Amino acid sequence: MKQRLRAVLNEIEVELKNATTRGKVADYIPPLAQVDPAKFGIAVMLHDGTLISAGDAQEKFSIQSISKVFALTLALGKRGDAIWHRVGREPSGDPFNSSILLELEKGMPRNPFINAGAIVISDILLSSHQPRETIGEIVRFVQSIAEDDDIYIDEVVAKAEDRTGFNNAALANLLKANKNLDNLPPHVLGVYHHQCALAMSCEQLACAGLFLSASGRNPISNHRIVSVERALRINALMMTCGHYDGSGDFAFRVGVPAKSGVGGGILATVPGIASIAVWSPGLNQHGNSLLGTRALELLCRRMGWSIFGR
Ligand code: DON
Repeated sequence: MKQRLRAVLNEIEVELKNATTRGKVADYIPPLAQVDPAKFGIAVMLHDGTLISAGDAQEKFSIQSISKVFALTLALGKRGDAIWHRVGREPSGDPFNSSILLELEKGMPRNPFINAGAIVISDILLSSHQPRETIGEIVRFVQSIAEDDDIYIDEVVAKAEDRTGFNNAALANLLKANKNLDNLPPHVLGVYHHQCALAMSCEQLACAGLFLSASGRNPISNHRIVSVERALRINALMMTCGHYDGSGDFAFRVGVPAKSGVGGGILATVPGIASIAVWSPGLNQHGNSLLGTRALELLCRRMGWSIFGR
């Protein structure tokens, strides 16, 4: 299987390297507009610790909304199922930054992966701490699950989003007005924008996400990160909400739980088998990586990986 996987990753890299339609790099966070759209990396980690990668899989990029998976995991560990009183578990069918349902549904975000829901999760993590303590805690958590200290926040990206994130400020104010934030919006946004600015490579991400494909436990160290039930539920949320209003199409084409980010990364999990991370900065109309999705579609089809059967 490893030999086949290595060959499939190389095939995909060659097939996608010269693609002329690569999507559009996010430019609403100014430093992301500078990223080279020709970049492409993919990494797969198996349960015995084998890491197979191709392309720019060791280059760090801004993980953006992929960080929402790690923040949710941390918040569930701290507060347990009480978080579900403040954020829902339904797909929104709307863009990631939409405020339409938030107003209609009185400040209760549909799920923890749209921006409004992730801002509530940041508020839960902030609790009564200083933003910088919470940001440090998130970084240390991600370093620990990736078993890699060389993971940090890109301050240029974080500061740029703090300066230009007016839509997120609107969401945070709407949440506060509806009594669904304990802390002040600028403090919560500081945490949220910093967590989104985590810089990681595909290889580091595949390693950090491995516990989700192994029922909540790191299969190499045997260290338990979340309970079996929670890991299954995080995967369920990634499947139904991980690609926003593109989640149905992603499930149809790829068939495994995954979470995207506007930096062009996608973290996917093949339960019982592997964790996958892919990076191609150009995005489709829903803000999800265009070639990253294509790469996962090809990989899962060629390896026979799907949660829907085979
Ligand atoms: O809040 C934002 O808009 C960004 N920091 C994250 C959005 C994002 O990654 C959406 N994912 N595809």
